[in-house]
Amino acid sequence: MERQLLGLRGFLIDAPAFGALRSKRRGALIIENSRIVEVGDFDDLRRSERARGLEWIDHGAAAIFPGLIDCHTHLPQYPAVARGESELLPWLRENIFPVERDFTGPKAREQAPQFFHELARHGTTTAMVYSAIYEDSCDVGFEAAKASGLRVILGKVMMDVGSYGTLQPRKVVSVSLLESERLCRKWHGAEDGRLEYAFSPRFAVTCSEKLMRGAAEMATRFNAYLQTHLAENKEEIEKVHHLFMGARDYTHVYEKCGLLTPKTVLGHCIHLNSREIAAIAAAQSNIAHCPTSNFFLGSGLMKLDQLMKAGINIGLGSDVAAGPELNMWQVMRAAIDVQKARANYEPNLRPLRPNEALHLATQGGAKALGKADKIGSLDPGKEADLVIVDLASIAPYSKDRQSLDDLSPDDVVALCVYRGGPHATVQTYVRGQRVYERG
Ligand code: GUN
Ligand code: FE
Repeated sequence: MERQLLGLRGFLIDAPAFGALRSKRRGALIIENSRIVEVGDFDDLRRSERARGLEWIDHGAAAIFPGLIDCHTHLPQYPAVARGESELLPWLRENIFPVERDFTGPKAREQAPQFFHELARHGTTTAMVYSAIYEDSCDVGFEAAKASGLRVILGKVMMDVGSYGTLQPRKVVSVSLLESERLCRKWHGAEDGRLEYAFSPRFAVTCSEKLMRGAAEMATRFNAYLQTHLAENKEEIEKVHHLFMGARDYTHVYEKCGLLTPKTVLGHCIHLNSREIAAIAAAQSNIAHCPTSNFFLGSGLMKLDQLMKAGINIGLGSDVAAGPELNMWQVMRAAIDVQKARANYEPNLRPLRPNEALHLATQGGAKALGKADKIGSLDPGKEADLVIVDLASIAPYSKDRQSLDDLSPDDVVALCVYRGGPHATVQTYVRGQRVYERG
């Protein structure tokens, strides 16, 4: 293969550890094939041996961040964003199950490519995604993910209780498992590992114990991911208590089925007791914190400090369509707002800083997905998943490189968190390949 070299110039910013921001104002990085090979000052790198004959990509007043990581979102639900003003269970029944039920055939084929294009336009380079219950909904999702160039972990939703409504088509356990296995065999590890499979039992309300056990066994057999929802809403938790009387708590239902593994990503986890937190930590399972969704459905305020203190890896998720946007900057902002809201009635609570929210959306998410050594920061050797943000489109007046010189790295991160979005995404890269470019 011919050696591909690419030089990117900009204000480099990453958050390799919680609370630690790293930056290079007049920075640059060199990508060789799919990896970052050099990071430094533009003036040094441009004179380096490696940069000989290199063409530099320079967008002026631009910041270069690691690509954003969305640890929890739903492909079929995007058309239903901002719809319905109720809590989780009625919202699912009235607004979500109808759109998911229709996500098959030509409709799925039409929407899936648009969904992944939207992710790239928002600067998201890695996403962990649920499709609908149908095999084809997941298959066309993978086809679209493949074509998009994004890094995607995807799985077919599994439900055998209630499904999309009692009168709707349902999948018996054996069919659900068979279809999931087929999809996993076809897609897990495809595109040199860019695409991976997640067994996706929806949540304990719509899954039998047999289905959950089967999903856990298969995920272990194929070394694939597992994703599900846990303790998002009080009515949901009540329902699970009634359905699984023998379990000590909601988390115990998943534990008994073998669903808590180091490759498990649990959505939400708002209402957990200390036993549940300890069990998740002991199993080295991971949590996707979905604050825009939690605000939209009024689900509750995440006890981020307690979960982090227990040593659980936490990433952020847009949880579209309960979250109204794929915009991870908005998700970071909401994560900060959740802790501000808690601080009103929990004294001495530590606030979440913009640079810490950035960590959760990059290196933190990478760690939650077991990819901390591959993506999440701008270290040489990492795969080149990046987003270039046009600072002129988010700063109030400043328009050129010089006029932005007064901004500290923390200022830039805060501007992005509070005002960032697709309008400011200039380019998005995955493995050194451009997957989005602003027109
Ligand atoms: N719990 C079970 N299914 C869902 C879903 O689709 N979205 C959210 N937010 N919570 C769920
Ligand atoms: Fe969800």
